[in-house]
Amino acid sequence: MARAAASFCLILFFLSFFVLGNVQGNPNYRDALAKSILFFQGQRSGRLPRSQQITWRSNSGLSDGQLALYVNLTGGYYDAGDNVKFNFPMAFTTTMLSWGTLDYAKQMGPQLQDARAAIRWATDYLLKCARATSGRLYVGVGDPNADHKCWERPEDMDTPRTVYWVSPTNPGSDVAGETAAALAAASMVFRKVDPKYSRLLLNTAKNVMQFAMQYRGAYSDSLGYAVCPFYCSYSGYKDELLWGAAWLLRATNNVSYLNFLNSLGANDGADIFSWDNKFAGARVLLSRRALLNNDGNFDPFRQQAEDFMCRILPNSPSSTIQYTQGGLMYKLPDSNLQYVTSITSLLTTYSNYMAAAKHTFNCGSLQVDYILGVNPLKMSYMVGYGTFFPTRIHHRGSSLPSLASHPQFIGCDSGFQYYYASSPNPNILTGAIVGGPNQNDGYSDDRTDYSHSEPATYINAAIVGPLAFFAG
Ligand SMILES: *[C@@H]1O[C@H](CO)[C@@H](O)[C@H](O)[C@H]1NC(C)=O
Ligand SMILES: *[C@@H]1O[C@H](CO)[C@@H](O)[C@H](O)[C@H]1NC(C)=O
Repeated sequence: MARAAASFCLILFFLSFFVLGNVQGNPNYRDALAKSILFFQGQRSGRLPRSQQITWRSNSGLSDGQLALYVNLTGGYYDAGDNVKFNFPMAFTTTMLSWGTLDYAKQMGPQLQDARAAIRWATDYLLKCARATSGRLYVGVGDPNADHKCWERPEDMDTPRTVYWVSPTNPGSDVAGETAAALAAASMVFRKVDPKYSRLLLNTAKNVMQFAMQYRGAYSDSLGYAVCPFYCSYSGYKDELLWGAAWLLRATNNVSYLNFLNSLGANDGADIFSWDNKFAGARVLLSRRALLNNDGNFDPFRQQAEDFMCRILPNSPSSTIQYTQGGLMYKLPDSNLQYVTSITSLLTTYSNYMAAAKHTFNCGSLQVDYILGVNPLKMSYMVGYGTFFPTRIHHRGSSLPSLASHPQFIGCDSGFQYYYASSPNPNILTGAIVGGPNQNDGYSDDRTDYSHSEPATYINAAIVGPLAFFAG
């Protein structure tokens, strides 16, 4: 009965997306793919290499970790429009970039090298965090409350670079599970091209996963004063245990992870996928074995993945998601495009596994096309793509003059004259996808309206795979 309902829903899904996806427009997916990856260079923390192409950025955060703790925590990415390194969303970003790169390596073409470099910028940092001192996993650098009171270039940053960590006495199965997922996924990306690095990633992933499983708890319980409300673990840590174990299972084939997955049980009815909630992602990932290897052990996960599809598709009897008049999936008012890109990545991934297993299932490009300009405003929500795109994004580095054009220090408060200016940002953060339009398909291009105008690493990370899928 459940199976019949699911198939029914998938047929509806096929029809609605196929029809809507062909209404108009013909975006250049290859161009968008290249830009979606280039964006990550604008988010870099640490010492920038000669190959840096977003040249309005310079070195920053060079003493991260060293002043307080004598550990080297340079590198990694600022999460969005600010200058904080939050490992929880950074690790999710890394997992998603790795997933896209792994499954669509062929379709990536010339962008494959750049995607690997974007992943490695994160994993080099995550390895430092996971291997620095035994018993601790570092989970962030930079006091977010102090940072958010300033409008400063990362290069000028003079707010406290406080370091946060979890440990057996203050556990964080959420951030540890996600870090393990990221390292395990990345280990597969580098398996052939850099086997030594790949082994280091995988061995570290196993240790971090062990820590996540053994010391259960949410990192917000001990670090709430720093990570909430920004990246609180609202959904708890069970989803990251599922997701981390699913990635370790794919990377190692060790059946003990399957036993662990089965012991977690429970269907939670998730109709979202994000840096916080990964239940649906884990199930789509686990469906791969059901579809590609015909392994019956994975059928329950595949069933749950299909239940998820039915909750998010328009016209499905169990749908719980709204769509705008212009056809955009509308989940939440704050940074809605993050849900669009992450859920779209699950749809394309699932349809890719179905196609590989010679099932008929087709997924149109409606949501991706909408983001690239096939929408009522004819606006591209990717900066630097097409001719009409957001020019006042909520991003410190992009909105302040570069060091090259303005070498003098701009302090915490002095930056706000640029924040409130009506002029476009001086620096183009090519490839950045912003929070996106409101539920009426409107967009005000207002720097102070961060819930619509702020880009984020996890918005972009999730669209890299779909763009490669459509480009290939
Ligand atoms: C920190 O690590 C980076 C490599 O990731 C290295 O280039 C840098 O010199 C190190 N900093 C210190 C102070 O050791
Ligand atoms: C599988 O993983 C478990 C714990 O996660 C470990 O104890 C065991 O040695 C692993 N088995 C193999 C064959 O590597």
